[in-house]
Amino acid sequence: MFDQTIGINKYFKMEFGFYGHSCFSVVVNEKKLLFDPFITGNELAVGIDINCIDADYILLSHGHFDRLADAEIIAKRTGATIIANYEIAMWYAGKGIKKYHPMNTGGKWTFDFGTVKCVNTIHSSSLRDGSNGGSPMGFIIINDDMNFYYAGDTALTMDMQLIPQFARIDLAILPVGDNFTMGPEDAVQAAKMVQTKRVIGVHYDTFGFIKIDHQKTIDLFDQHELELKLPAIGTTITL
Ligand code: NI
Repeated sequence: MFDQTIGINKYFKMEFGFYGHSCFSVVVNEKKLLFDPFITGNELAVGIDINCIDADYILLSHGHFDRLADAEIIAKRTGATIIANYEIAMWYAGKGIKKYHPMNTGGKWTFDFGTVKCVNTIHSSSLRDGSNGGSPMGFIIINDDMNFYYAGDTALTMDMQLIPQFARIDLAILPVGDNFTMGPEDAVQAAKMVQTKRVIGVHYDTFGFIKIDHQKTIDLFDQHELELKLPAIGTTITL
């Protein structure tokens, strides 16, 4: 059974909007953070109108098309600030984006919503036009109410053991689709390394290579006393 008392801030509450694949939004200190917007081109997300998505910040974990597809159009419409590694931030600057904040692995910065710390991943990051997409990153979002870790695309890595030293993790958002990233078994180990009991799974079902059995995956996490949520695309859940 899921232990409600371990590793969870009892005051923790968060609205999590899921747009499919690894695209989600959270509201932190009244700012809307949008992560890895890939809706156009995702057949599972055809019901979502990108013109209805608001954002104050757009955080991009790496340069692959299934992160960036809609970032430029949403950033230009909303005036959101793009937070990404140096190479990706400069790539957007070259496209006329005025509001961007370049970061890189290991760095942290305090924004008006909270602190972002960039952490290591094992993945790749090429941009579609062949530009250098820099190093892929994960993010820890730290603030007074809640902290969460978004792993981006990554393999399981021992570096995840460092994450609880940076912040208490109330929630981890982890890829579970396998093939390109961690699969469910490795994501269980990742949750244990970052010392959280709550996980939202992303990066599954979108392509043939990453289809998962939802119930089997949830049951696997449950066997390890971990709560896994796989929200429906287009829904907002309160955690
Ligand atoms: Ni990727």
